[in-house]
Parts: sequence; C-alpha cells; structure tokens
Amino acid sequence: MFLKKDVIVIGAGAAGMMCAIEAGKRGRSVLLLDHASKLAEKIRISGGGRCNFTNRHSRPEHFLSHNPHFCRSALARFTPQDFIALVEKHGIRYHEKKPGQLFCDESSQQIIELLRHECEAAGVTWQMPCRVNNVSRANAGGGRFMLETDRGTLSAETLVIATGGLSIPQIGASSFGYRIAEQFKLSVTPVRPALVPLIFGSEHPAGFSTLSGISIDAVVSCNGGRFRENLLITHRGLSGPAILQISSYWRPGIPLHIDLLPDIDAASWLSDHRHGSARLPSLLAQHLPRRFAEAWTQAIVGERSEVPMNRYSHKDLEQIATQLHDWKIIPDGTAGYKKAEVTLGGIDTRELSSKTMEAKKVPGLYFIGEVIDVTGHLGGFNFQWAWASGYAAGQFV
Ligand code: FDA
Repeated sequence: MFLKKDVIVIGAGAAGMMCAIEAGKRGRSVLLLDHASKLAEKIRISGGGRCNFTNRHSRPEHFLSHNPHFCRSALARFTPQDFIALVEKHGIRYHEKKPGQLFCDESSQQIIELLRHECEAAGVTWQMPCRVNNVSRANAGGGRFMLETDRGTLSAETLVIATGGLSIPQIGASSFGYRIAEQFKLSVTPVRPALVPLIFGSEHPAGFSTLSGISIDAVVSCNGGRFRENLLITHRGLSGPAILQISSYWRPGIPLHIDLLPDIDAASWLSDHRHGSARLPSLLAQHLPRRFAEAWTQAIVGERSEVPMNRYSHKDLEQIATQLHDWKIIPDGTAGYKKAEVTLGGIDTRELSSKTMEAKKVPGLYFIGEVIDVTGHLGGFNFQWAWASGYAAGQFV
C-alpha cells in the first residue's frame, strides 16, 4: 500500500486528535495513526475513569519547563472554556471536584467519543494499530516525509509527533518522539517520571510501612514547589496529591519539607500544654491521625515519647515544634514510569515555535502534547496543554 496525505499525525491521544480535528476542519487531508489498537487509552484511564479533562484556572504558572514562557501563547489561544464548550456541545455532563478541576459525571470514554466524532466530522482517517518502522524525507534538504510502516509506505507534506511521554508503558507509551527528535538533530531535555509516588528503599522512615493508608492534610515543599494537599502513606513510601505534585520538583538526594500542622503555631500550642500530664502523641492526636502521631513521636524523640508533657523543657518543645512544621525526609526514588502520570522534560522548547509547535530547523515537522518539555501540575492541566498545543499546531499544519 502507498498512501499520500497532507498531514500525518503519529499518536492518536489527546493532543494528536485535537490537532487532527483542527487540521481536518481547514480542509487538509489528515491521517492519524497509532501503534495501539485502542484509541486514547490514557484518556480512558485518566481521572480514575472520569477524566479530569481541564482546569478552569489553567495558567502558565501551573506548568514546568526549562522555558516557563513557552506554553503561554498556546494556552491563551485555546482556553479551558474552549474545551468546556466542546464538552457541552456533546452533551457531556461534568462536575467540579476540587476548585477548577472538571471531571465527567459518567465516564472518560465520553471524551474519547467526543474526539472521535469531531475527527470523523473533520474527515480525518485512521490507521490503527500501525507500527512506524522508519521515518525519512524524500530529499535531505526537505520534501515530503516518508513513513515505512507495517501497513505499507505513507507519505505526507507535514508530520506531527504526538506520541506523548514514557509513563505507563503497559498501555503504549514509547520513546518514539524523542528518537525522532534525535534523528532530526533536535535537542531533548532530560526526562524523568513526574506526578509519581515517592518510595523508600528498605527503610521507611520510622517504620511507617505499618501506617499504610493513613492520609494527612499537609504542606509539602521542595526545590521551589509548595503544595497543600493530602499526603498518603503507602506500603513503600508516600503518595497522595501533595506528594504527586511535589514529585515534579523533587530531585534525588534532596529532602522534602513537610509541615504537618499548617493551621496552627505548634510552638505556642505545645507551650500551652507544657505543664500537663498528657503524653506528646496523645496531644498530637488532636490534630494528626493517632497511629501516625505515635510513630512520628517515636521517630523524633525516641523513648521520651512515653513521658508526660511536663517533663519536656521549653527548648525541647521548640525543637519538636520546628520538626512539626519542617519535617525533613529524603525519599530514595520514585515509583517510576509504571506509576507516573506524566514525563517531565522532553523536546527542548528552544527547538520549537511557541506559535505553531513547528521545529525551527525542520520545516514541516511538528511536536505537540506531553512529548514536549512542558509538564502540568496535577488537576487537569496536562490535558489542557494537550488540547492547547494540538489546537495551535492544527491551525498551521
Ligand atoms: P498520550 O499519551 O495521550 O497519547 C500518545 C499516543 O501516542 C498514545 O495513543 C500512544 O499509543 C501513541 N504512541 C506512542 N508511541 C507510539 C509509536 N511509537 N507509534 C505510534 N503511536 C505511538 N492529565 C490530566 O490533565 N487529567 C487527568 O485526569 C489525568 N489523569 C491521568 C491518569 C493517569 C493514570 C495517567 C498515566 C496520566 C493522566 N494524565 C491526566 C496525564 C495525561 O493523560 C497526559 O498528559 C496526556 O494524555 C498527554 O497527551 P498526549 O496526546 O501528549 O499523549
């Protein structure tokens, strides 16, 4: 088989479909191909099966990138309201869970169907599953892109890479996008798992593995990031929204700073109880889960966790208060791409036009979505980037 198209989009995920829709609407002949047999698996599993499809408050500050300004233009041209309008056009009911985070009432499959219908209406054609074995250009200086696939040779004026990041390889993630960048001599910033649980090696601090399932409302900070959300103790380490968020900022070897009592002044609160006979863990249990309070006190003051409050000096209590507001722990690593929601890093934004997503050195080659070095916070921001970057490229491909 030999097939000729104006545009080929590799990767039928969130960004790829959005780009295909927009290009199709402009009258371009578009082929969307994916090596997976099922469409947009990541949308299906997202948001616990309900797809947190956008965040009303999306702003450039919610994205990490070596160039934090890169995402501005695309985000401004396709806003959360634009995607909400699409959702409403398709009669999909949705709700706001945490402030700004919009989820389908029923199923993430509805977002996949929305995109599929819009693609069909725009005349987009599909090849799935389709494996791309080689990409080349008809002549070295430019010309059409030639794709050797297991379904034959495909040719296109414009090639869009929308193959996403490395997270969840079991449903089709691959390094394809980075390899194409390398082939065309475009730089890629280092990649690593993000929005990911953090783990401890053999030693969970203070033997916390027995506390698995306990959740604490805390402020977690590290390396310029600061989030107030729930922190969840797991069998192997820490998870929950606070940890997923901070994982994008954490680097091996540096500590997390955890404020366990963000709403109170621990020094004066402990001082108020200095003359009482309560044990410290019992006192802490007024604000923290009891089992956690016991284990944490044991880890911080050892055997003295058994003594009554009136046996602590003012200085002891000040030190304990400092620990309560700035408990430092150093994870051993992340739970890796198998558990990560996204990949941090990717195609270096200096290589791309922020208006069109086209590679400056390779006219006709575009990158969109998570494959680029733009990574959102947790809460619908990553899909908003996929829609916005896909939309931006779709106006020009
Ligand atoms: P995406 O990964 O969606 O699509 C890439 C496509 O390329 C896939 O279909 C893949 O099969 C295909 N592909 C890969 N390699 C290929 C190759 N070699 N050849 C052909 N095709 C290839 N975000 C959010 O905003 N709200 C949320 O609720 C969630 N929830 C969530 C849950 C979980 C468990 C995960 C793992 C992730 C999320 N995310 C999220 C993140 C979000 O899913 C992600 O950022 C977007 O899907 C990225 O969209 P892309 O289109 O860039 O890649």
